[in-house]
Amino acid sequence: MTNLTRPMDPRSTLRALADEVPARVAAVSDLATLGTLEAELLGRQSEIGKLRKELGRLDPDERRELGAFINEIAAGIRDRIDGRRADLAAAEEAMRLRADRVDVTLPGRVPRRGTHHLVTSTLADIVDIFTSIGYTVATGPEIENDFYNFTALNIPKTHPARLESDTLYVDFEPFGEDRHDDDVEILLRTHTSPMQARYMEAHDPPVYIVVPGRVFRRDDLDPTHSPVFHQVEGLAVDDGITFGDLKGTLDYMAKQFFGPKQTVRFLPDYFPFTEPSAQMHVSCFACDFSGCRVCSHTGWIELAGCGMVHPAVFEAVGYDPEALTGFAFGVGADRFAMVRHGISDLRHFFESDLRVLRQFK
Ligand code: PHE
Repeated sequence: MTNLTRPMDPRSTLRALADEVPARVAAVSDLATLGTLEAELLGRQSEIGKLRKELGRLDPDERRELGAFINEIAAGIRDRIDGRRADLAAAEEAMRLRADRVDVTLPGRVPRRGTHHLVTSTLADIVDIFTSIGYTVATGPEIENDFYNFTALNIPKTHPARLESDTLYVDFEPFGEDRHDDDVEILLRTHTSPMQARYMEAHDPPVYIVVPGRVFRRDDLDPTHSPVFHQVEGLAVDDGITFGDLKGTLDYMAKQFFGPKQTVRFLPDYFPFTEPSAQMHVSCFACDFSGCRVCSHTGWIELAGCGMVHPAVFEAVGYDPEALTGFAFGVGADRFAMVRHGISDLRHFFESDLRVLRQFK
């Protein structure tokens, strides 16, 4: 018979409660619900909470005994709950990290930057050498007429360079004002030299200019020829300019561009617009005169045509050939780039293969 004034021994109730706890705690899958369950099992209103309140009514021995028992059960429940809390917290943290994962240790993605083409930077380097010693940069049309490309440069009507087998003519007349006679012919400039005439015609002396640009000749593309290539023209006109100035200037250019070890030599040549004329060679960068494929086993590489400005050119542009002297040169810029970087095939410059071009940033 149950004694209504004294509760039945609570130990069995507590044991039954403790037995249920593992399953109830395990069933909880989030921290908030676990908090609710904790209050339900251990809070003031829980079975354990109520029993603790009633302990005061027991006599000391029983109170101590039952109190210890309650504490033991409660500690077991607390352990369960704390363990589950740690697990749930770790799982929630892991999920959060996975959701907003940013690996700050990864290097940033650097977009690939475009760069100048090797030929463009070579032209710029050559031009820089001259602007740094006081030269001005001039540029002119790639579509020229035969007056500037040939006639003003003392190239006679009968010269073979004018033949269609060498020069690309254009069926097009953009230069009405430039016509020097009625049967002017339009062509793609075969060298940058027409800018000698154009510049002197438009400017008084002294003249110190460089002219970078594209030139065109009727050639098939092969390892050493291209119908399009690049030159830098140079022109210096002043009082008392000598062939020694020309040699010194080109020697300076070669040492600036290729390095102080490089030496130059000049061999006699012929151009209608310079007298005397020469071709400039630079010592082979690859073999130091022992002879190799790059220099065709001569130890030298031809890089420029040059000479003293012919009096007939001064006359054609209205300069006084008695009062002035000057030198001119035309360097092959593609050749400069090939020599500097040891490139043996000119076609690499015109095929736009990025694997080639990216090597020369
Ligand atoms: N224009 C000549 C060429 O293309 C080079 C040159 C320029 C020679 C200036 C003398 C003076 O071959």
